[in-house]
Amino acid sequence: MGFEIWTIKTVVVMAVGVVTMLPSCIVESVGNSSSTELKLWDFEVKPSVTQTTLAVVYKEIDRLRREQATIRQQQEALKHMLSSQKKEFPMTIGSTALAPYPLTTQEIESWSSEDTDSMPNFDPCYRYTVLDQTWRATNTSTKHKMCDRNANWKGWYRLFYKGKSLQMPERCPPVDKCGTHAPLWLASSHPRRSDGIVSRRVCGHWKKQCCAFKSTPIKVKKCRGNYYVYQFVKPTSCHLAYCADVNTIVCGRCRRSESCVSRDKISWTCKRKKVIKRQVHFFAAIPTSITGKVNRIKYSSVTVNVGHAFNRKTFTFRAPVKGIYQFFFSTQTTSGGKTDLWLVVNGYWVSVSHTQVTSPSSVGSLRTYMTFLRRGGLVYVTQNCGNSWANAASSTIIFGGSLLSQ
Ligand SMILES: *[C@@H]1O[C@H](CO)[C@@H](O)[C@H](O)[C@H]1NC(C)=O
Repeated sequence: MGFEIWTIKTVVVMAVGVVTMLPSCIVESVGNSSSTELKLWDFEVKPSVTQTTLAVVYKEIDRLRREQATIRQQQEALKHMLSSQKKEFPMTIGSTALAPYPLTTQEIESWSSEDTDSMPNFDPCYRYTVLDQTWRATNTSTKHKMCDRNANWKGWYRLFYKGKSLQMPERCPPVDKCGTHAPLWLASSHPRRSDGIVSRRVCGHWKKQCCAFKSTPIKVKKCRGNYYVYQFVKPTSCHLAYCADVNTIVCGRCRRSESCVSRDKISWTCKRKKVIKRQVHFFAAIPTSITGKVNRIKYSSVTVNVGHAFNRKTFTFRAPVKGIYQFFFSTQTTSGGKTDLWLVVNGYWVSVSHTQVTSPSSVGSLRTYMTFLRRGGLVYVTQNCGNSWANAASSTIIFGGSLLSQ
């Protein structure tokens, strides 16, 4: 039993990082800080804390399980892609129907039992059929013209040319290319990743008219790793076929930090994405002393607020971007008794500045804390008990922080 409890503790420390603590001002000893720290973890002493923490653990286990399911999907898609690249992809159009990558019953069962809410809207970025047919290329013309109306489309597809990832053309390909009479191309540009799944118009080029055939619109999604998946459907007539633009093979080689760009939609290059570096710094103080419990210390004297992340009305810091942040806060205690100031991050009490002195001496305490915050993360300081001394010039009760990296 003792061992099991220890395991749970470890999980909390590693995976959650922050611990719900019910801060108490009744701390036995001040001089021995390590024993105070150990007390924080001693769940047997505070049963209410054990319950809150267990809830956190269960939530965490649930999250990990969900993550595992996603990883499994990705592995399957990758495995399938690799195997289809080795052997000639068995799909031919016309006689053999295009079959989507089949799910095994075991997979379906494991999905429905583990991850019921992700089943109806699974991510097509990891569940697509590889469509590697050289005749679809924008630079090939075949004797026998293909018609995608004869194919049995189902689900999502990703285009390849001899194992190289590519995209549909965003420009009108010449007639009789793409192994068909009227090649089908995307009439507006591909989506960005933040757009999610979008609908796009599809045009068929015929008789000098780039959109002679207004085919059924298709769904498109941009995936992590610079590729697209398409939900192909039967085109409106024959002979129309979806094109694979060989000019965009270069896009499949772009790194994560790059995006594929083109002015003329013919010559494409990988270009480094511009990262706007955000500057976030703030420094605030309170010019008067505070006594007793103060839910949110009113740091009214704000001298630095680069990036305007510190709200002067609510005295709360809100993370404007995802990143690593460093905070510091301090107090100065003069009277006897304990004084505890807590840094509160997203509702969790994460770091305490603790002082205890006997009159007539005085002591200052400065705390720093570093953490990863998502956009919108909230941080403020609370005085749980005691007395903090300050005057207009002292800068003894302060709160500040910076964004270290995005
Ligand atoms: C089409 O383009 C690919 C890739 O650039 C190239 O390997 C192939 O030889 C081209 N085919 C024709 C017929 O030009």
